[in-house]
Amino acid sequence: MSTPLRLGVNIDHVATIRNARGGRHPEPLRAAEAAISAGADGITAHLREDRRHISDEDIDDLAALCSRVGKPLNFEMAVTDEMLLVALKHRPHAACLVPERREERTTEGGLDVARGHNVVAPVVRALRDAGIRVSLFIEASPVQIAVAEALGAQVVELHTGAYCDAVKSGDQAAADRLLEQLRVGASEAARRGLEVHAGHGIDFDSVSAIAAIPEVIELNIGHFLIGEAIFVGIDDVIARMRQLMNAARHL
Ligand code: PXP
Repeated sequence: MSTPLRLGVNIDHVATIRNARGGRHPEPLRAAEAAISAGADGITAHLREDRRHISDEDIDDLAALCSRVGKPLNFEMAVTDEMLLVALKHRPHAACLVPERREERTTEGGLDVARGHNVVAPVVRALRDAGIRVSLFIEASPVQIAVAEALGAQVVELHTGAYCDAVKSGDQAAADRLLEQLRVGASEAARRGLEVHAGHGIDFDSVSAIAAIPEVIELNIGHFLIGEAIFVGIDDVIARMRQLMNAARHL
């Protein structure tokens, strides 16, 4: 029997819709509650430097909700002193360090921990010292994985964006090559004792192959779930995603 796969639901884009009007509706907190009721194993939220979606108040609310219901909050953050202070204030279950550029539409690639080693190292240490699990959002490259281990991270989240884009555009050769990179990366990370997560760009068409990688134990999915929830509701979209994940794991 395979290990079950956790589903972290990223609710950033509920805040994107709310912010389009500047009021309170739709509230990310309510979406998080609904996602948990629908079977999410945890909530993921990215407090961006420019606060384009999730706000500081959202993080206060989400941290309180997760601790009340006993679900992990995965706090995605740039490697900055400001975000480190927010993380240390809330002490979420996990902090996932991501690259951030103001002009990008979303997190376009993994964090280059090999080049940014000196900047990332003190943040990893401070988070770990506070009892927060550290996850590094990286490309599935052997160098990045080796440096993630050396930095003392407990988790790596492998960036699945390029694979998911290849699936969406119907480029089978690229999808095969990128999936193989994810498989090799997951196995290498697990061999080094790192917990392996995966995320970015995952939808119903790309989830099965990623979920079938045995070393991956958590997927973090946002944009597709929130977008599809407009048509079928958050319960149904999460239930369907869960079904596909379980089928890929033969559960
Ligand atoms: N994991 C990480 C580290 C991310 O930065 C994001 C996007 O914020 C996701 C997962 C979710 O990606 P998507 O919204 O494309 O599902």
